[in-house]
Amino acid sequence: MENGAAPTAKPVIVAIDGPSGTGKSSTSKAVAAQLGLSYLDTGAQYRAITWWMVNNGIDLTDPTAVAAVAGKAEIVSGTDPAAPTITVDGVDVAAAIRTQEVTSKVSAVSAVPEVRTRITELQRSLAAGAERGIVVEGRDIGTTVLPDADLKIFLTASPEARAARRSGELKGADLHATREALIRRDAADSSRKTSPLAKADDAVEVDTTELTLAQVVECVVTLVEEKRTGK
Ligand code: DC
Repeated sequence: MENGAAPTAKPVIVAIDGPSGTGKSSTSKAVAAQLGLSYLDTGAQYRAITWWMVNNGIDLTDPTAVAAVAGKAEIVSGTDPAAPTITVDGVDVAAAIRTQEVTSKVSAVSAVPEVRTRITELQRSLAAGAERGIVVEGRDIGTTVLPDADLKIFLTASPEARAARRSGELKGADLHATREALIRRDAADSSRKTSPLAKADDAVEVDTTELTLAQVVECVVTLVEEKRTGK
């Protein structure tokens, strides 16, 4: 050991991608908490910029108008997995970004390249600043944002399981309508030109349809530990 300094573990970067309702957020938060890592919900950032655009009366059907103001909102994410936070221009928007209005508009905003460039910069700088490492969840983390991540996971689940989980979160929302809305949003997120929802070639695919949250978390934690110990 040089200069008597204690050895420090290299920060570990974990990318968790997949469509809505596959358990990405619950899994990512639990894995980060268990391993003492930071946590970043990139969907919340796209929701936050969408909230700002709605609030400022931007015409979201006009990509040029959206692109022109892509850099205006100051979005700050708190990365403690026990209490993640998100503010826009200093305003706590944690609840406001989960409304139906934002959910129905976020795919259009996040398809605009200037928006993706801006949010990707924020994500890379948070990942670079995470001393012990970070779990980053989203749609394009393994493919575009952090292509050198130590571990890439791609979560999937049947549309039925995903809709059931989402309508549970939304306190008993109509299952059929939730399933249709999810499928529509996934199709939009997967077919956009700029960094669509996609599995990286070197990602490990985990089908969570028949698994409990605890089983998925255990699986990912084991994979991270194997990477760390070089197995
Ligand atoms: O994970 P979520 O449902 O909160 O994400 C909201 C939307 O944000 C999703 O429909 C697509 C977009 N998104 C994205 O384009 N890229 C990411 N890395 C994360 C989310």
